[in-house]
Amino acid sequence: MMTTTIRHAALAVMLTAFMSANAHAEDNALYRQFGEKEGLARIVDDMYATVIVDPRTAPYFENAPIRRIKPKLVEQLCVLLDGPCVYTGRPMKRTHEGQNIDRAAFNALVEDLQAAMDKNGVPFHAQNKLLAKLAPMYRDVQDRE
Ligand code: HEM
Repeated sequence: MMTTTIRHAALAVMLTAFMSANAHAEDNALYRQFGEKEGLARIVDDMYATVIVDPRTAPYFENAPIRRIKPKLVEQLCVLLDGPCVYTGRPMKRTHEGQNIDRAAFNALVEDLQAAMDKNGVPFHAQNKLLAKLAPMYRDVQDRE
């Protein structure tokens, strides 16, 4: 009787551990499709290499602290993808205020991000999931329509 109870308890502990490990894996699935922190860092590096020469976005970044922005953006994307990160940057609205960012500039930056995701082999459906999370952020970065 006692042994059965112990066996049941052990089984319950194992099951719980398995289920939480599994849930954890599922939670991180999207983040893993981006290659985790290292993958995100590569994507953000490639994106910024383009953004600073793309005539549609370059003027915005002439005096921008790119070395600061990149790790903050990596953190932010990591959070959006349900990765194990904390965003330590400034709020989106305050950061982008007064920069005259419009829809064209926003779309251009998103296109440059898409190219960087393609280059780094992020599956199309995973790309779309991130883009869907970024799209509503236009409200916070825009100064005009
Ligand atoms: C969803 C879209 C965007 C996201 C998630 C994003 C994210 C960020 C982050 C995390 C930072 C750094 C914040 C910090 O310093 O603490 C930043 C800064 C900056 N972003 Fe964005 N951004 C977006 C769109 C844009 C667009 C469309 C432009 C212009 C074309 C832009 C231009 C800048 C500039 C110039 C800075 C540096 C501001 C400064 O410190 O002087 N961003 N952005």
